[in-house]
Amino acid sequence: MPSVLFVCLGNICRSPMAEVVFRQEVRKRGLADEWKIDSAGTAGYHQGDTQDARGWAELKRHYPDLKDSDMVISRQVTKKDFEQFDWLLCMDNSNLRDLRRVAPKPCHATVQLFGDFDTKGKSIVEDPYYGGADGFTANYNQLVRCVDGFLAHVAKSKGE
Ligand code: 4NP
Repeated sequence: MPSVLFVCLGNICRSPMAEVVFRQEVRKRGLADEWKIDSAGTAGYHQGDTQDARGWAELKRHYPDLKDSDMVISRQVTKKDFEQFDWLLCMDNSNLRDLRRVAPKPCHATVQLFGDFDTKGKSIVEDPYYGGADGFTANYNQLVRCVDGFLAHVAKSKGE
């Protein structure tokens, strides 16, 4: 089963949103049972917190069937994640540096910017934490494009 871990700094804004969007979009395509999906933060200071309410409100606007039990609880990336996931897809260059610093060598997982798959070519998913709701809307729109691009990439590499 292919597996993907979405990673940002705190695992309360961008990577939880990526996780929820990815779950919803694979479900729409009938691929829900084919993927192992999770998210985590490079930092642990929000460990145990539920995802940011502003990001959750944005997600509920697009996926009204979401239940509170679908909210992501923050956790920190572990060494095991590099063995247990095929892809670690992160949001900005600081995440990428932090992941590369702790990655085992050799590393099973492909560690990459999720924005590399943005169909509009915007490679950084910007941190919305200190801004307003519009940042989360921009994140959502970009993450949907990244999911599209990533799934197309995976399908192509499987020869579909
Ligand atoms: P995230 O956003 O990395 O997308 O979850 C942030 C969350 C918390 C903080 C910064 C960014 N913080 O400084 O607490």
